[in-house]
Amino acid sequence: MSKALTYLAKTRPEAATHLLSFYKHSVQALDEKTKCLIQIVTKVTVGTERGLRQYAPKALKAGASREEILDAVLMAFPAAGLNKVLDAIDIMREMDLLPEAPASSPTAAEAQSLGLLADFPLQRMQCVQRPSGDYIVYRSDADTVVVYSARCPHSKANLCRGTDHGTQVECRIHNWRFDLATGVCIEPAGGAGMQVIPSVVRDGQLLLQ
Ligand code: FES
Repeated sequence: MSKALTYLAKTRPEAATHLLSFYKHSVQALDEKTKCLIQIVTKVTVGTERGLRQYAPKALKAGASREEILDAVLMAFPAAGLNKVLDAIDIMREMDLLPEAPASSPTAAEAQSLGLLADFPLQRMQCVQRPSGDYIVYRSDADTVVVYSARCPHSKANLCRGTDHGTQVECRIHNWRFDLATGVCIEPAGGAGMQVIPSVVRDGQLLLQ
């Protein structure tokens, strides 16, 4: 429940009870995913960023794919118009809730190199975008570098948009935390770890293998 509804439930309990009861009982035949996708259409149409930020992650959690979320945003176009749809796409991309755009074709060398090893500072999470995906580079000391896929092993959110806690990164979608030196999932304990991508340093360049 939003903070505003919690406030109303305390200060106007009768009104809030009827309101919440309406939400709970009025829609009965639709499953949770469909309800969330319809909510996305309505939130884009009325242009409420807060509603969009609330219901889009719920849709993902309820089993919607990123493609279905994009379709829901586009379904709003006839009523919402182009600007509201583009605004919603910006928000959804920032939240990593939309499918990746197809990549343009790079040269083999461009695709393979993540950059000069010396340019990656020690003990700092660094994100690198390549056509094959987003990567996280972490150097625990001068002799140790590890490259991870930036896709969260829980539900594929982009960890580059997560919170950098120095030696750990926290996913912004469901708050899983990972140790950057090892990729191990710290919270929840026993969760899947980050995917290590094979890499090699050649002539000072950090290369994907
Ligand atoms: S997508 Fe769920 S914790 Fe990252």
